Amino acid sequence: MVVPKPNRNVVVVGGCGHVGLPLGLVLASSPARYQVALLDIDTDKVALVNQGTMPFLEVGAEELLRRVIGTNLRATQDESCLRDADIVITVVGTPVDKHLNPTAHALHKSIDRLTDLMQDDALLVLRSTVYPGSTKLVYERVRSRGCRVHVAFCPERIAEGKALEELVKLPQIVAAFEPEAMRRASALFLQLAPSVIELTPLEAELAKLFANSWRYLNFAVSNQFYMLAESCGVDFYRIYDAVTRDYPRMRSFARAGFAAGPCLLKDTLQLSSFSSNNFFLGHAAMLVNEGLPNFIMSQLRAEGLRGRTVAILGMAFKADSDDIRDSLSYKMRKLLEAEGVDVLCTDPYVADASFVELDDAVSRADIIILGAPHGRYAALRIPPQKRLVDVWNFWPSRISAATPEQAIATTN
Ligand SMILES: NC(=O)c1ccc[n+]([C@@H]2O[C@H](COP(=O)([O-])OP(=O)(O)OC[C@H]3O[C@@H](n4cnc5c(N)ncnc54)[C@H](O)[C@@H]3O)[C@@H](O)[C@H]2O)c1
Repeated sequence: MVVPKPNRNVVVVGGCGHVGLPLGLVLASSPARYQVALLDIDTDKVALVNQGTMPFLEVGAEELLRRVIGTNLRATQDESCLRDADIVITVVGTPVDKHLNPTAHALHKSIDRLTDLMQDDALLVLRSTVYPGSTKLVYERVRSRGCRVHVAFCPERIAEGKALEELVKLPQIVAAFEPEAMRRASALFLQLAPSVIELTPLEAELAKLFANSWRYLNFAVSNQFYMLAESCGVDFYRIYDAVTRDYPRMRSFARAGFAAGPCLLKDTLQLSSFSSNNFFLGHAAMLVNEGLPNFIMSQLRAEGLRGRTVAILGMAFKADSDDIRDSLSYKMRKLLEAEGVDVLCTDPYVADASFVELDDAVSRADIIILGAPHGRYAALRIPPQKRLVDVWNFWPSRISAATPEQAIATTN
């Protein structure tokens, strides 16, 4: 009897990034003890990971990394690891270009490279968030090039910072064109996740984009209502409290706040592009969310900005993160600087020689804008004579019963 070979050798392509590294850690430490190679083109990140240092913040990850690195987990730039892989999971970035359209070409080039090196019968899992139809194109391209790897699409749905917790808690969506690819991808993820949900590839691609766009739209509703209330001199959070308190139908009403980061806008735009730019809600959400710093700017301009110093507290795109990708705090800074305002930036998680310490920023500024509601700011007391812009109502001064912790939980 032929005993099937266990699929133990896994390569994660883009393995030192925000999605790839936590996944590699969970695979390497799972009961199945996969042998995991994190293949990445970033020399610095590969070196850091091999030293047992996380290149970014992720709760619980560094401790786990130190346990498994050098045993059954390693980071590498050497593509030859692909030759022995039973499973290759690719999580390289899928950005939109400067015209806000998806960049599919890079994905296909990268897949060609991988499949040239992969062995026949190995499993290729696409895990990046992709433009609808990409899995079909990859599958057909792989077949037309005479390559006999199995192709599956298994989107990542974690929230950055909570990856280790969520990878083992959330159901995994699994999609493929062939039963063998579906079976193997399901078997892989059932080693980590509590359950799998099988969809067709197009359904799965849309499911991922719908989830991110839904969140982006949800934040846009709150931001639009915030601007509407504030423009007529009404405190948004008095209304927020009134409509959410003991009223279950408003449970999903998010707080206002900077809604940005590397995924939500980009994925909304992928859906827009897919619907031939007829995704009106998506475009409207972009205008609203991206317009929030402009709204703050116009409020402050009306109050007088000349000769005043502004501090932005939190430059990361969300609370308790060191990720600055597409953060609206930077847009806020740019708008202020364009009008000659002195801007002090501070963030406990972001290393930048131009930033100042929190106390310094607070004491020197006339105006304080909360850019990211980091939990570390919870105990901060802003002197009452300073003008405070706290879109999240992170420091609830008024009627809302929410704590700073709840304010963080309701943002992206
Ligand atoms: N960040 C999130 O929370 C999140 C959640 C779900 C899905 N996603 C999706 O996952 C994908 C990756 O996002 P991310 O946040 O991990 O990006 P990231 O930039 O943190 O990581 C991507 C990694 O890929 C590496 N890389 C790029 N090209 C490569 C190549 N040709 N070969 C090997 N390595 C390469 C980069 O050096 C980087 O380390 C995107 O499609 C994103 O939309 C992200």
